[in-house]
Amino acid sequence: MKHYMGIDIGTTGCKVLVVDENGTLVAGALAEYPLYTPRPNWAEQDPADWWEGTKSAISKALSTPGVSGENIAGIGLTGQMHGSVLLDNKNEVLRRAILWCDQRTHLECRQITETIGYERIMEINCNPVLPGFQAPKIQWVKNNEPEIYERIARVLLPKDYIRYLLTGEFATDVSDASGTSLFDVPRRQWSEEIITALGYKMEWFGHCYESPEITGNVKNDVARSLGLSPDIPVVAGGGDNAAGAIGTGIVNPGMVSASLGTSGVVFAFSEKVKVDMQGRVHTFCHAVPGKWHVMGVMLAAGGSLRWFRDVLGMEEKNVATLLEKDAYEVLSEEAALVEPGCEGLVFLPYLTGERTPHADPHARGVFFGLTLKHRKNEMVRAIMEGVTFGMRDSFEIIREMGIPVGEVRAIGGGAKSPLWRNIQADIYQVPLLTVRIDEGPAFGAALLAAVGTSAFSGVEEACRKAVKTKDQVRPNPMNVKKYESYYRLYRDLYPAIRDFYSRLGEMEN
Ligand code: XUL
Repeated sequence: MKHYMGIDIGTTGCKVLVVDENGTLVAGALAEYPLYTPRPNWAEQDPADWWEGTKSAISKALSTPGVSGENIAGIGLTGQMHGSVLLDNKNEVLRRAILWCDQRTHLECRQITETIGYERIMEINCNPVLPGFQAPKIQWVKNNEPEIYERIARVLLPKDYIRYLLTGEFATDVSDASGTSLFDVPRRQWSEEIITALGYKMEWFGHCYESPEITGNVKNDVARSLGLSPDIPVVAGGGDNAAGAIGTGIVNPGMVSASLGTSGVVFAFSEKVKVDMQGRVHTFCHAVPGKWHVMGVMLAAGGSLRWFRDVLGMEEKNVATLLEKDAYEVLSEEAALVEPGCEGLVFLPYLTGERTPHADPHARGVFFGLTLKHRKNEMVRAIMEGVTFGMRDSFEIIREMGIPVGEVRAIGGGAKSPLWRNIQADIYQVPLLTVRIDEGPAFGAALLAAVGTSAFSGVEEACRKAVKTKDQVRPNPMNVKKYESYYRLYRDLYPAIRDFYSRLGEMEN
């Protein structure tokens, strides 16, 4: 039986999955790599680490019994979006990649917006220029490291650097290219107007494909060193959210996913290009050819809970080790002992600034309402509730835009907690489904590889056959009512303190 491989260049590591012709998972492996934070709110990775991680995860996956490099009939790529990989004219990496969660570029965002004009950028790219996106990172290098900028010959997105090493081709896909600020989202092609207005060169950017299209084949020497057959087709794949949506089956109108990983993403399928002119949610091309999606992105969702676990959760970590459990499971069980609303404790989850709905790199986290009565349990639950209120903001905007919210699927690490699933159903006020295989974007990338090499007639057929749902959680009317008043308070807090964030930022500079 033929197998298909999905490779995900994530922020914590590279995940490789192998599926068979029915989309059944047959192997998986992860190889972690470091994240560098040379200054607060900066985030960088070394593309060489991604490649080492990729090689190691492929080799681990291929060592699974029943899996062999010779059976792999297609590879799909996915990964963290927006990062900037800069190459010189010898295709050598010029500096570490600046990542999606790096917040250093707010001045560059303003500069690009002034050059193109807000209205025009919204017309072409459908999104405001945000610090996480790729163009402001190129602009930052132009402003701060001119000697590097002068040597740029190629600009790639993270997964596309791995594509180059695998196939020798410079290419990308429409969903990932959408998050560069340099892409014409309605026309699904690079925007020559924006690229040239900023003084960049069209040839820096690879050829852009629809996600299931084949972009090249694995080079012979690389195939040999990785234990793969030569010439395996590599499909375009997608940004991690779009590929993740394929793996979750978000491929028809009315379907929405709510993902709680490091970032929190509400992802809605859209038949047509729909834009929020205030730019609170992103409008990107979908990995389903000819379709789009709208998504709200919170920067520190599961990341807020991870911060708590690492800074204040030592005791829970120890208990978890003793009980052979995960520390998040212990934290979640403790939080389940607390009433909704956490006795008046509200958490604002802006630990690394925020994108949706505030687009504010200066925003910070807040515990509001803390008293002597509050213990760790309340703080943990307040984090879960605060993050979910942030996700609810995206649901509100998506509904306002007239995009139908029918079936909602909960995915990501947060969906593993029964408590957090209940909190989500109560706060979004919708029944929530989970999926049988929640392996994230690598699963979607493997399905895209199967579609591109004709194992399925199209993305919809692949999802119909391979993506199955399980448990449904329904909102609890009592909690819905209580959360509704807490959500109103949550929404009023940020505007009340917004100006103080900038003051704090200025004090630090
Ligand atoms: C999406 C975004 C994040 C990263 C995480 O716009 O920035 O979801 O793709 O990997």
